[in-house]
Amino acid sequence: MRKKVIAGNWKMNKVLAEAEQFIADTKNSVPANDKVESVVCAPFVYLAALVDKAAGSDVKIAAQNMHFEDDGAFTGEVSPVMLKDIGVTYVVLGHSERREYFAETDETVNKKAHAAFNHGLTPIVCVGETLEQRESNETMTLVEDQVKKALAGLSEAQVKETIIAYEPIWAIGTGKTATSEQANEVCTHIRKVVAEAVSADAAEAVRIQYGGSVKPANVDELLSQSDIDGALVGGASLEADSFLKLVEAGA
Ligand code: G3P
Repeated sequence: MRKKVIAGNWKMNKVLAEAEQFIADTKNSVPANDKVESVVCAPFVYLAALVDKAAGSDVKIAAQNMHFEDDGAFTGEVSPVMLKDIGVTYVVLGHSERREYFAETDETVNKKAHAAFNHGLTPIVCVGETLEQRESNETMTLVEDQVKKALAGLSEAQVKETIIAYEPIWAIGTGKTATSEQANEVCTHIRKVVAEAVSADAAEAVRIQYGGSVKPANVDELLSQSDIDGALVGGASLEADSFLKLVEAGA
């Protein structure tokens, strides 16, 4: 039985007081059990404060990106060493917004996945197609390619620990959710790709989230699908009560 993972991706939202209030409002209410884990993906500048605020609770703090080098002349970047140092435990890699606006590629996502494991961070690797790619029936091949390239060179044990987030770009922030069948179909395909590229055991263990307009009203149906092990949520994760409803759905 795979443990569900509900991750709220705040993107570039909130000021510090709001971020801290969110943790105060959720830290004692997230379920502490072996069915679900709760992750908050916050902007870099708040991470240290939020790790501190969430200490002793079951809310885990994630970065939304990082560089793959440990240190050096990379102005404006944040390294895995720094994230680990302040107590961050997860990192989102290859979100479609980073691929689209910040030149993230499958190659850099792969380097970052290796760097994450080298420093004890759990990567949440995002993949997903545009509307144009879906309409021209490229979804499966595109996603397969993204998954294989992201995981290349990782050990079986590392792949088992990886979280893959399937986020169809056309469903992000649009209110247009993929149907649970559409979402599950791609997640099932991703599991098959992992089985072929790595091993059946890795495929059984790897957790695959769906992301794209997930909200309390549709989360139950999405999580009831055979290959959906959680959700990566943007808009509906910004309010504490909505985030708690999503987490409860996984419990
Ligand atoms: O990473 C989460 C995301 O891209 C989905 O955003 O607002 O559609 O839930 P949203």
